[in-house]
Amino acid sequence: MSLKALVLSGGKGTRLRPLTFTLAKQLIPLANKPVLGYVLDQVAETGINQIGLIIAPETGHYVKEYVKDGNEWGFKVTYITQEPLGLAHAVKTAKKFLGSDDFIMCLGDNLQGLGLTTYVKKFKAKNMDALILLKPVEDPTKFGVATLDDNNNIIQLVEKPKNTQSNLAIVGTYIFSSKIFDAIDQIKPSWRGELEITDAIQKMVDMGYNVKAEALNTWWLDTGKKDDILTANAKVLDQYAKQQIFGTVIDTKIEGRVDIQKRAKVVNSTLRGPCVIGDCCVIENSFIGPYTSIGDGSKIVDSVIDYSVILDHAQITGVDRLEESLIGKNAKVTKNHRNGCLKLHVGDYSEVEI
Ligand code: G1P
Repeated sequence: MSLKALVLSGGKGTRLRPLTFTLAKQLIPLANKPVLGYVLDQVAETGINQIGLIIAPETGHYVKEYVKDGNEWGFKVTYITQEPLGLAHAVKTAKKFLGSDDFIMCLGDNLQGLGLTTYVKKFKAKNMDALILLKPVEDPTKFGVATLDDNNNIIQLVEKPKNTQSNLAIVGTYIFSSKIFDAIDQIKPSWRGELEITDAIQKMVDMGYNVKAEALNTWWLDTGKKDDILTANAKVLDQYAKQQIFGTVIDTKIEGRVDIQKRAKVVNSTLRGPCVIGDCCVIENSFIGPYTSIGDGSKIVDSVIDYSVILDHAQITGVDRLEESLIGKNAKVTKNHRNGCLKLHVGDYSEVEI
């Protein structure tokens, strides 16, 4: 029986507005590569080549523009449009694509280290119907949570519990047999109006199916909100940043792993890695500190930037110190030298901390 993958790249991304007005949340770049790209790398590594990509009516075209026909990863891609009515609803919507095959389900905004193949092997060898991966977290109330007995058997699975003794979050990567459809047919929408995958897996446990939980043996981050994106960007730079210089560098000090991409021009500055400077960027008289990603075509002049993610074609001028910031595409941040007053032109749902 072949194994397929279902990658969820829909949803409204409300927690990441305003960026998600013009971008699918799964396309927010980490080290200048969309989160979804890392998820697809992780699927490709298992050898799966048939993938269903769930997209939202509002942002699906951005996802299609990025993934195209999936050739870059060796995939045959089927696009499936879904209204955001929950993860279990997404599985139901993909029923025709999935047929009776086993499948891996990955959330397109969850980032984790590689190494899924061992879990796929276990799933097959032990004839499982569902395998969930767990990771301890500080605040379990933000996730689906599993309570296990001393032998690691699942006692209970609850979505976003208000009170829980367990700190084991359900990671956004699952492996299922087609029995998941029997369970989804029996669950009702939760308080947030969604068909929850956590409820469906609990139902599989109740129905006596072979459901197992394993500890995820690599790092994992959910990039659903701003602070997590900065953390995830730092993590990815830490893990993958290379020391490589394709652009032009003049009178500039470079320390650590600094990646300067094609046609970028860096003049009279200091760059301290790990950091990445995108294609066609201009950096002048500035300091770019560790854990910073500067998107393609951005211009940074007379500024200091540290631990931040700057998306494409942003302009930052004369800013003494910008830290822990997420700056959207084509945004401009400029110091007003004349009277020191603040002049703001800030889009809907933006956040400014002064
Ligand atoms: C979803 C799942 C939750 C899981 C989390 C992982 O939460 O419902 O069980 O722990 O992804 O990131 P959501 O992103 O919908 O809040």
